[in-house]
Amino acid sequence: MAKPQVINHDFSDGFDRDPERSSTLAAPYYFDPAVYEKEKETIFYRSWNFVCHVEQVRDIGGYATAMVADQNIFVIRGKDRVLRGFYNVCQHRAHELLKGSGKRKVIACPYHGWTYETDGRLKNARNSQDLPGFNPGEFGLKPVQVEEFSHFIFINLDPGAPSLNSQTGELQAEIRSYVPHLDKLIYALRLRYDIATNWKNAIDNFLECYHCRIAHPAFADLIDMPTYRSKTHGIYSSHTARSGPGDNKAYTFEKSDDDLDFGAWWLWPNVNFIVNPGESNVVVMHMMPSGPETTIEHLDFYFLTEKLDEQQRAVIEYFDKVLNPEDIGLVESVQRGLHSRGYHQSRYIVDRDRTELSEHAVHHFHSLVLDALKG
Ligand code: FES
Ligand SMILES: [Fe+2]
Repeated sequence: MAKPQVINHDFSDGFDRDPERSSTLAAPYYFDPAVYEKEKETIFYRSWNFVCHVEQVRDIGGYATAMVADQNIFVIRGKDRVLRGFYNVCQHRAHELLKGSGKRKVIACPYHGWTYETDGRLKNARNSQDLPGFNPGEFGLKPVQVEEFSHFIFINLDPGAPSLNSQTGELQAEIRSYVPHLDKLIYALRLRYDIATNWKNAIDNFLECYHCRIAHPAFADLIDMPTYRSKTHGIYSSHTARSGPGDNKAYTFEKSDDDLDFGAWWLWPNVNFIVNPGESNVVVMHMMPSGPETTIEHLDFYFLTEKLDEQQRAVIEYFDKVLNPEDIGLVESVQRGLHSRGYHQSRYIVDRDRTELSEHAVHHFHSLVLDALKG
């Protein structure tokens, strides 16, 4: 294991606000445990983190869990229909309360059976009636912020964080212009991948298509590559292209006026909304670090119909068997390479016209990382 270095996050290592002049993030940013600890505090515990589509917690008692780095969180719809978020930890001796997703009338701890109302109040602590000075009001669940954005649920561990909707500009309108039926989408399934890479490598890879023709021949056929463009805005970036031929190496779809073009939007710090050519669909790609050099990726698929048709199954199959394995191979190789004594950092390949070969959106992401780390 490489020895940790002291990094000041002060742009002194060749990083420049101008992507055409800037060096990339130096290698230790991708493996130094001290950087990761700081990222947890300054990025993950302060930013809005994706949980699920609102439809998954529509009913009273409906809940979903999510990890924010090492913090276990859940959201649950109360009897008053308000959606609330809490740390997923019992206030007795800290056992986990809920797993996965589902529905609960009360939240019962599997260890000693303390129960909580869906609004977080402690309902019953067995055998506590005669305990001197025990006030159940002091042992409610610890809340986190919850917000709905574009029909998706986000949480924020920072009670003072400004609302997500106040920071996202035109993002919602952009996504909706590609998926007018966003609110009618139905959750189909989740795929999970455990990747041996730093979370930023997974995001970097998403934010440029410089590698697409080389590493993703089928994707480069699915879309019209010369029309691929990335645009950066505030805390998100847009990546769009016209769809290619319906008969392509990725999956087949019927070309019609209703066909979606390709659109993908990255939202700080780690979630991507992807719309694929073909019928109405959204794939939410979510990269959550589980350590300095490990990332859990979730792909959540949403379609307009409950029963998957052939083309929808083909989209899932393409992501699971082709596109994602291609990307995982790339980012795991990069993670190993970053430890090489023969590498420290490089330059972003950025052109004036910000074409499909330009890496300016990676530089935009790294500016936000460095700004956060500086505090
Ligand atoms: S840890 Fe939950 S009831 Fe004891
Ligand atoms: Fe890729």
